[in-house]
Amino acid sequence: MADPTRHPFLEDLSKHRGAPPTAVVIFGASGDLTARKLIPAVYNLAADNLLPPDFHLVGYGRKEIADAEFRTLAADAIKEFSRRELSDDVWGRIAERTTYVAGGYDDPAAFDRLAEHLARIDEQIGREVQPLFYISTPPSVFEPILLNLGRSGLAQKHLGKPHHAKVIIEKPFGRDLTSALELNRTITSVLEEHQVYRIDHYLGKETVQDLLVQRFANSIFEPLWNRNFIDNVQITVAEEVGVGSRGGYYEQSGALRDMIQNHTMQLVALTAMEPPGSLDAEAIRDEKVKLLRAIQPLDPQHDVARAQYDAGMIAGKPEKGYLQEEGIAEASNTETYAAIRLSINNWRWQGVPFYLRSGKRMARRVTEIAVQFKRPPGTLFAGGGFDLATNTLSFQIQPDEGLSMVLNGKVPGLETRTQPVKMSFRYSTTFGSNTPEAYERLVLDAMIGDGTLFIRGDEAETSWKLYTPLLEAWAEAGRVGMDSYPAGSWGPANADELLDAGGHLWRKP
Ligand code: BG6
Repeated sequence: MADPTRHPFLEDLSKHRGAPPTAVVIFGASGDLTARKLIPAVYNLAADNLLPPDFHLVGYGRKEIADAEFRTLAADAIKEFSRRELSDDVWGRIAERTTYVAGGYDDPAAFDRLAEHLARIDEQIGREVQPLFYISTPPSVFEPILLNLGRSGLAQKHLGKPHHAKVIIEKPFGRDLTSALELNRTITSVLEEHQVYRIDHYLGKETVQDLLVQRFANSIFEPLWNRNFIDNVQITVAEEVGVGSRGGYYEQSGALRDMIQNHTMQLVALTAMEPPGSLDAEAIRDEKVKLLRAIQPLDPQHDVARAQYDAGMIAGKPEKGYLQEEGIAEASNTETYAAIRLSINNWRWQGVPFYLRSGKRMARRVTEIAVQFKRPPGTLFAGGGFDLATNTLSFQIQPDEGLSMVLNGKVPGLETRTQPVKMSFRYSTTFGSNTPEAYERLVLDAMIGDGTLFIRGDEAETSWKLYTPLLEAWAEAGRVGMDSYPAGSWGPANADELLDAGGHLWRKP
C-alpha cells in the first residue's frame, strides 16, 4: 500500500537519484539547528528511502557525549521537530549507525581522532565512504574547522577520487565583503569550489524551486517578463517572531545581514535572472551572478529604510519592543526591519524598481514575490465606477504556498461594473500538505553532489559588495535615520516613503 506520508515527487526522486555511501559529520552536533532541522532531515530522508544503504551519522562537538546519549538526543529531536512521527523501524536503521566524537574545533588531535573514527567506518563497510562535513557552528570556528579538515587529511582538494570529501557550510558567509573574501580564500585553500555547499535554506523551499519551473516551463510569462510590461516587483519576507533568545546573535547581525543579503537576494536573483542555457548548477549560478552584478550601487539616503520594532500586539498578545528584549544594547542600532529599492541596470529590467522588505514582529508571517504589471491604457475602463486593481502575479513562498494572479473581471449583472478577482493555485489542495522540508532536499543534493541549490562563492561576494557600503554608512550614522514600527504592524513610515517616491504602495500580503 502506498505510504500516505510519502510525497509523490519522492517516488521519482528515489528512482533517479542515488547518493554514494556517505558519512555525514555534523560539527555543532549539540546545537539548535542540528536538533530542529538536520536530524529531522536525515530521519525523513530515511523514511523516504533516500539515504544511501551505507549511511552513517557522526555528531561532533565540544561536549563529551556518549554514543547512546547522542542517539537519545537525536530521537528526542525527531519527536519534537520532525514532520513525521518517530517510527522505531525507520529510526532503528539510522540509530545503529549514529555515533559521536567529542573534540575542540581548533584541536588537531581531535581531528585525527575523527579521521580514525571515519576510517573504522570504512573498514566496517569494506569500502571508502564519502565524508560530508556539515559545519553548523558559530562562524568564529568556521576557519579552524576548515583548516583542521585540511591538515588532518579529512578534506582535500578533489584529485579525481570518486567519493571525495564535501563540506556544507551554514550562513553567515562573512559579515561584509572583506570577511566573505577571507572565508572564501580559506575554503578554497582546502577544497575545490565544487566540493563546497554553502547553504541558503530558502533555496531548499519547494516554492522557491517552483519559481524556476513557473518561469521557464510555461511560455506565457517570458514575453511579459520585462520592463515593457512589469511596473515593479515587491519581495516581502515578513516574520511574526521577534529575536527571542537570539539577541546576542541578532545584535551582531540585523535584518540586512540576517535576511536581505542572503535569502531575499536569492529570491531577487531567481525572479530576475535570464533563462539559463541548461538546468546545470553552473549555468543557473552563472545567470544569478550576472544578475546580481547588474544591480546598481545603493544610495544610503534614498534607496533604503531601516527600523526597529516597538512594543505592540500580535494575535491579541502584547509583545515587547526590540530594545526591551533580552541581550539587546540599550541604544542598539541594529535594525529589525529593512527595506531596499534595487535598480537593475540591464536590458530587461532598467527602470523597474525591485522593492525588498524584511522584518521581525510584523503583522503576519509571509514570504511572497509580487510582480505588478503596468496598467492598461486608460481609454476604456478608466474613471469613475470602475474598480480596477493592478494585475499582480504573486508567488506565495510561505505559508499557504502557491501562486495567484489578480485580474479585473465583470461583476455579474445588467450594468458593466468591474471588480478585482483572484486566480489561485494552492500547493496544499493540489499536492497535499506533506511537503519535504528545505533541509531534506539540501542534504540529499549535497550527498549526490548537485550544487544547484547552493550559493557559489562569487554569489556571496557579489551580494556583499552591494551591501557593504550600506552597512558602513549605517554603522557611521548610528541611530540617525532609524525609524520604528509597532510590533504587529506592516512596518515603519520611512519604508512607505521609499515607495511613495516612485509612486508606489506596498502591497498588503
Ligand atoms: C534564518 C534567520 O536564516 O531564517 C532567522 O537567521 C529567520 O532570523 C529564519 O527567522 C527564517 O526562516 P524561515 O524558513 O522560517 O522563513
